[in-house]
Amino acid sequence: MNAARSTRWPVIVVVVLLALFTLAFVAVFVMASLDYGMESTTPHPDAERVDALLAAADPARGEALITQFDCFACHISAAGVGIAPPFEGVAERAETRRPPLSAAQYIYESIVDPVAYVVEGYAGSMPQNYDERLSDEQLGDLMAYLLTLH
Ligand code: HEC
Repeated sequence: MNAARSTRWPVIVVVVLLALFTLAFVAVFVMASLDYGMESTTPHPDAERVDALLAAADPARGEALITQFDCFACHISAAGVGIAPPFEGVAERAETRRPPLSAAQYIYESIVDPVAYVVEGYAGSMPQNYDERLSDEQLGDLMAYLLTLH
């Protein structure tokens, strides 16, 4: 009787371990597929538009547009006097401002919908009508130029 019981132990341990491994495997698999599902079904709503705008864009034209649309009226570079963040290094800051937005998506949003996110320390005073005033080409060019400012 005792001998029979003790020979069964290793079998029980193996079965329990197998069950635990199977559970862990299923859990990891389910979590991975949930993650994947979230990424593939909810891309940023503007992601395709942002890519399309940039595909046709020219940063040199964008630099001229900054002057034409008087962005420097607020985005002044000299330390301390700007009523908006200076553009220096904006490409870098844009990468981390609003995760999971990419730098390009953030810059796009900052121009077409500036109040969606207001940079800390500044008033939400950026004009909200650039979306109507800028053509798609101009918008893409401006984004492409700002993305060169590392
Ligand atoms: C009347 C002032 C004003 C003008 C003109 C203006 N902006 Fe702004 N802009 C702001 C302010 C204030 C902020 C910071 C607050 C916010 O996030 O809305 C800002 C933020 C931004 C940001 C985000 C910067 C960062 O560091 O996160 C971008 C990009 C931007 N503006 C682009 C532009 C472009 C391009 C133009 C010209 C087409 C422009 N702005 C014209 C006031 C202005």
